[in-house]
Amino acid sequence: MPSVLLIDVTKRFGRIVAIDRVTLEIKDGEYVCVLGPTGSGKTTLLKLIAGLVKPDEGEIRIGGKTVNEVPPQERGTVYVPQDYALFPHMKVIDNVAFGPICRGVEREEAYKMAMKTLKMMRLDWRADSYPHELSGGMQQRVALARGLASGAEILLLDEPLGALDARLRLELRYKLRDLVKDLGLTAIHVTHDQEEAMAISDRIIVLRRGRIQQQGTPFNVYRRPSNLFVANFIGGANFLEGIVTERDSKGSWVALREGIKVRTEDPDRLPGESVVVVVREEKVKVLKDEVSGTNLLRGRVVSSRFLGPFIRYGVRLTNGDVVRSRMLISKQRKSIPVDEEVYVYFEPRDAIVYQYPPLGLYKELEVI
Ligand SMILES: Nc1ncnc2c1ncn2[C@@H]1O[C@H](COP(=O)(O)OP(=O)(O)OP(=O)(O)O)[C@@H](O)[C@H]1O
Ligand SMILES: [Mg+2]
Repeated sequence: MPSVLLIDVTKRFGRIVAIDRVTLEIKDGEYVCVLGPTGSGKTTLLKLIAGLVKPDEGEIRIGGKTVNEVPPQERGTVYVPQDYALFPHMKVIDNVAFGPICRGVEREEAYKMAMKTLKMMRLDWRADSYPHELSGGMQQRVALARGLASGAEILLLDEPLGALDARLRLELRYKLRDLVKDLGLTAIHVTHDQEEAMAISDRIIVLRRGRIQQQGTPFNVYRRPSNLFVANFIGGANFLEGIVTERDSKGSWVALREGIKVRTEDPDRLPGESVVVVVREEKVKVLKDEVSGTNLLRGRVVSSRFLGPFIRYGVRLTNGDVVRSRMLISKQRKSIPVDEEVYVYFEPRDAIVYQYPPLGLYKELEVI
């Protein structure tokens, strides 16, 4: 079974560098999710592996063999595009059976296989429809079924669940992963949905402007984001600007605006350095009672939103910074109303410290 290797691959479109010197290995049987903002090169990355676009520089290997000059149909890959691209003049079932038939599978067997994959996508009842008679979400599932039935060992899935409603999306994401694992396939799955990526991937790759920002297990990317961009892109977080005032063997003190001091376990930044302290929303607690201690910051609730199992609070600190907290409802008897005076609290070990970015925080986070 094949692994995929990109060595120093660059793809330009005129002046745009869509993929910028990317080196990447995807192991045989791995389920990888690619995350990144719009225009970061996700589709281009899949198309390079599929052979639908050619790299300007670098080498692509599949199963140890260089495939730069190998046409798409001989790579053992199937690309399931973002916009479905079904054959409009063919019925759903014919669309799905097309791949196996081209591969030389006998007609009857091909149609059996097509029906089975359509069933998996819960669309067997529309086998005789034409694509234009289906909703966007249904067409997307047909495209996915066509990809799965193609017999390729490497699935290149471009936002394969993007058009589905929330419930079906949840159901199919697990089904997709199970299927890939059961059949021993390899999947590279592009998504905008970081929760989806967390839930199903062995490894997450975060792209930004054609470059890999970080790759690792969902746990690692979430717990130890390699930079501010990744911290912001994956999971909600607070970004507190400050200056390191003291450092000792166990960590450091950071002064936020107006001298509010927070303690961190960061051993690297030196006194005088401008930094950003990142604290995940779920690591921040909002407390009503007066208490004293480290990283207990006074503030006033400015927003309170019900999110099913969570409540999300916004608390304005006395220096004007707003800190957000996501708390499990079961841990709270009653929600705290807006305008209430409260304390926010987080543990020093949950405060991750980054150097202040040269171009400013908001530019770094790509918040528009
Ligand atoms: N055929 C093309 N011609 C010119 N520019 C292109 C072409 N394909 C992609 N680009 C550019 O390359 C960059 C990366 O595009 P790509 O489609 O890979 O992004 P993406 O991460 O898939 O975005 P989205 O999340 O919106 O699908 C963008 O700036 C895009 O405009
Ligand atoms: Mg895309």
